[in-house]
Amino acid sequence: MTADIAFTRLPHPASTAAEVRAAVLADPGFGKTFTDHMVTIDWSEAAGWHNPTVMPYGPIALDPAAAVLHYAQEIFEGLKAYRFNDGGTALFRPEANARRFNASAARLAMPEMPEALFVEAIRQLVAADHDWFPTVDGGSLYLRPFMIATEAFLGVRPAKQYKFIVIASPAGNYFKSGAPAVSIWVSDYTRAAPGGTGAAKCGGNYAASLVPTAEAFARGHDQVLFLDAAEHRWIEELGGMNLFFVFANGSILTPPLGGTILPGITRDSLLQLAREEGLTVREERYSIDQWRADAASGALLEAFACGTAAVVTPVGKVADPDGEFIVGSGGPGQLTGKLKDRLVAIQRGTAPDPHGWVMRLD
Ligand code: PLP
Ligand code: COI
Repeated sequence: MTADIAFTRLPHPASTAAEVRAAVLADPGFGKTFTDHMVTIDWSEAAGWHNPTVMPYGPIALDPAAAVLHYAQEIFEGLKAYRFNDGGTALFRPEANARRFNASAARLAMPEMPEALFVEAIRQLVAADHDWFPTVDGGSLYLRPFMIATEAFLGVRPAKQYKFIVIASPAGNYFKSGAPAVSIWVSDYTRAAPGGTGAAKCGGNYAASLVPTAEAFARGHDQVLFLDAAEHRWIEELGGMNLFFVFANGSILTPPLGGTILPGITRDSLLQLAREEGLTVREERYSIDQWRADAASGALLEAFACGTAAVVTPVGKVADPDGEFIVGSGGPGQLTGKLKDRLVAIQRGTAPDPHGWVMRLD
């Protein structure tokens, strides 16, 4: 099936009242409210991808034996649509999300989806819910495409039936603290091991991160940091974000992709922007001990987290059972701010887009 096959549109019996929607859009938070519609597409061995439908947002019926409920065959993506000053809307690098979705699908033994169909499904949802863009500064429409195994079968093998769904949620700041910099807890738990699913965006990775995340919250931190599985020494990534380090010698470092961390699209975009700023860009291993030492000596000036939900968020404090240390000033650093501004300006259409990252929808 190709993207030009028509989507069925089911009418909405009672869309959200305008004043209720306006209240949400003025203060959306993150991931709390969903728009009026969703898109679903089914897959079976016999028919491939079929039955693309835009329908009212709501519960889905699943057989209690559906494979996703037992063996966690589930993958997802996260990307944002932005409303530009001219009133039109745009996506940021949706083809990159489509490619990563297919890489996740391959790792979880799920069917891949034509990139054009993935993007068209998102386009259909944004068109149906174009009144759901937040009115707050920095707001966007967060899109969550995902795929679940729907076949009712308890044997352990790849399922033969799947459902792809896209939902949308008006989004403001990811971190509700609103603090200028976040605090992170270095976990003893491991997120991903070589040969595992760390590079895939599958729900199971996040399920495994919930105890360490809850531990971080209980200790008063905003996010959890995972170290490598083998030596418990090398910095990998946060629960839902990649990490960058900015040094006094004009270099910037982020841990290398090696199968255990998520290849972030924000990470990739910032690497490109940092090169264009004339920085020395290093994708190298960096240990927690070195981070502590470099923060103390002043060799390290700034650190920041990045991802679709978090955009670019300064890291101000790091803690583990040995104690805690402050990064740079403990607040937002200069280069972090500069890279964030450059990225956000491209995403929101207030700066030129020389890389062809922005896809206008209308
Ligand atoms: N790492 C993890 C574990 C994530 O969940 C995310 C968010 O999607 C990222 C990194 C950043 O990826 P991206 O920049 O593509 O949103
Ligand atoms: C995203 O940034 O899109 C994510 O999936 C991260 C998640 C923690 C919300």
